[in-house]
Amino acid sequence: MKKKIITMLMAAAMVSACLTACGGGREGAAESAPAQTVEESAPAADAADAAEPAAEENADATAPAGEGFEDGATIGVSLPWLGTQNWKEAETMFKEQLEAAGYNPIVQAADQKVPQQQQQIESMIENGAKVIVVGPVDGTQLGAVLEQAKDAGIYVIGYDRLLENTTGVDGVVQFGSVKTGELQAQALLEGLAKVKGEGPYNIELFGGGPADPNAPNFFNGAMSVLQPKIDDGTLVVVSGQTDFTQCATVDWDNSKAQARMDSLLSGFYSDKDIHGVLSPNDGIARAIITSCENAGQQIPVVSGLDAENESVEWVWSGRQYSTVAKPTDALVAETIDIINSLKEGKGMPSTDVTADNGVKDVAIYELPPVVVTKENAKEVFANDPGRMELLK
Ligand code: BGC
Repeated sequence: MKKKIITMLMAAAMVSACLTACGGGREGAAESAPAQTVEESAPAADAADAAEPAAEENADATAPAGEGFEDGATIGVSLPWLGTQNWKEAETMFKEQLEAAGYNPIVQAADQKVPQQQQQIESMIENGAKVIVVGPVDGTQLGAVLEQAKDAGIYVIGYDRLLENTTGVDGVVQFGSVKTGELQAQALLEGLAKVKGEGPYNIELFGGGPADPNAPNFFNGAMSVLQPKIDDGTLVVVSGQTDFTQCATVDWDNSKAQARMDSLLSGFYSDKDIHGVLSPNDGIARAIITSCENAGQQIPVVSGLDAENESVEWVWSGRQYSTVAKPTDALVAETIDIINSLKEGKGMPSTDVTADNGVKDVAIYELPPVVVTKENAKEVFANDPGRMELLK
């Protein structure tokens, strides 16, 4: 079953990677790092390519195809925290699947703390890891330790989040992050029209953790859809808070989002209904909905992300309008495929998508996120028995 989902997603991902430029580059918080691009032709052959025969295999000319490595090699996986379902799934799947593929995995999570993540990566280097997979707590704070890993001949793969301002990265595996935000906003508009009747609609906006390079991309993707509707008066952001920095949720902390929603409601909605809220993920969506319920509001239309079990149930019961599925098994499988390619000495697989991380164009292996509402939930999860169980 799982294999089927993965195969389906992989096929879709390949199409997406070739046809679209959705996500990856940090467009908002770090102005210096422009959006990712799809290269029109094969990566340019430059002097580095000429000196490196296998380089045309690589989207990134600075990542040479190496010698490969032995069975049982140590692979480090450094995750930012285990606070949302996707990261917990990643922890388990990396452990089980790397072991099943014959590697020696060291999988650790950093509890949202940059120094802890730096130390964990240092110890993976000392333990002779051949590849280190990193979902950064803060996209910009790992430059030195990742460069140290590169100097030791270790491959570095970003997982789910871009690694910024460092040359110490060979590629990043992720779901289209700008595309994710667009899907969230489209679902919000669709839900408002369906559930709340005629506009104008009163809405509020939430973003994710400002250190996470995905968060401004989700927000900017969403705002590309919402801003025209704010400009033409269909949507009214009653608080006036429309900048990412005003809307961000430090550390993706649900309780901080709930506190902000509580104060928006008491400050701006004592005599108004709230109709919709842009939420960057499912945990924050549930916090927002709970806050509205506590304030005696009708539940607004709220977007989400991750298809967490609890939110899949809420979507099914009508309490949360939408989520976005970005299946962890597909992302882990894509990462392990790349590790296998490196093990065989074939270097990083080729990809047409790159993102400027501030100092280099990074190869992006991009998978497509899928929006989920009550209407299509059974279709989206048809091959996911665990989530199908929740649709009852
Ligand atoms: C991930 C989301 C997750 C969030 C908070 C983001 O980088 O893409 O899936 O909900 O981090 O953990």
